[in-house]
Amino acid sequence: MVHYLVTEAGIRQFLDIGTGLPTANNTHEVAQRAAPESRVVYVDNDPIVLSHAKALLTSAPQGATAYIDADLRDVPFILSQAEQTLDFTRPIAVLLLGVLPLIPDSDDPYGIVAQLMRAVPTDSYLAISHVAREIQERPVAKAAGRLNEALAEKFVLRSREDVAEFFAGLELVDPGITQVNLWRPGTGGSGRARPVPFHCGLGRKAADFQ
Ligand SMILES: C[S@@+](CC[C@H](N)C(=O)[O-])C[C@H]1O[C@@H](n2cnc3c(N)ncnc32)[C@H](O)[C@@H]1O
Repeated sequence: MVHYLVTEAGIRQFLDIGTGLPTANNTHEVAQRAAPESRVVYVDNDPIVLSHAKALLTSAPQGATAYIDADLRDVPFILSQAEQTLDFTRPIAVLLLGVLPLIPDSDDPYGIVAQLMRAVPTDSYLAISHVAREIQERPVAKAAGRLNEALAEKFVLRSREDVAEFFAGLELVDPGITQVNLWRPGTGGSGRARPVPFHCGLGRKAADFQ
């Protein structure tokens, strides 16, 4: 999706919330490989993630990376910090990859996403990946149950319809909501061969977004 956003949608700014530990092909690496001037703000609420990110996620000189220690539930704080690196008058891709399962319905994840998308201009994008409730149902439910014994935050499984609801008011990019391995395979993703119990989607904010 990051490769698509840079090469086909002209996006040069990313707000990547729920960064995770640095790995291969981090957001700024994929973006800056195609457009070195890309700017990426990483946000995570885990101090271990942030210390690794600060050490390893360094930008190409033409672009920028920044790290914010914040909780996805505190959108005003994230926006106030992100605007030091990103220009909110130009399109931004908001990436929520693997993080929404950690926001229970009682914390209003749909309201959080709407708040973020209201803050970015027309032609911005929302990318989501989310563990699926109904793919490989039994092993996934078992794994979620085990995780919930260990995690302070409870892990929420959501259906394809639940994930589609996050894109309310946005124009879904083809092929819509799919399993992650089926979203434009061959553009740098893991390909068709490895089915993953995750839904994903990419939506564009059009001028008539409400
Ligand atoms: C499953 S990892 C996903 C990592 C990466 N985005 C990916 O897709 O591979 C979820 C990340 O979200 C972070 N996280 C969990 N809850 C969060 C919250 N409420 N606010 C910000 N980050 C959060 C975790 O610390 C973790 O790094």
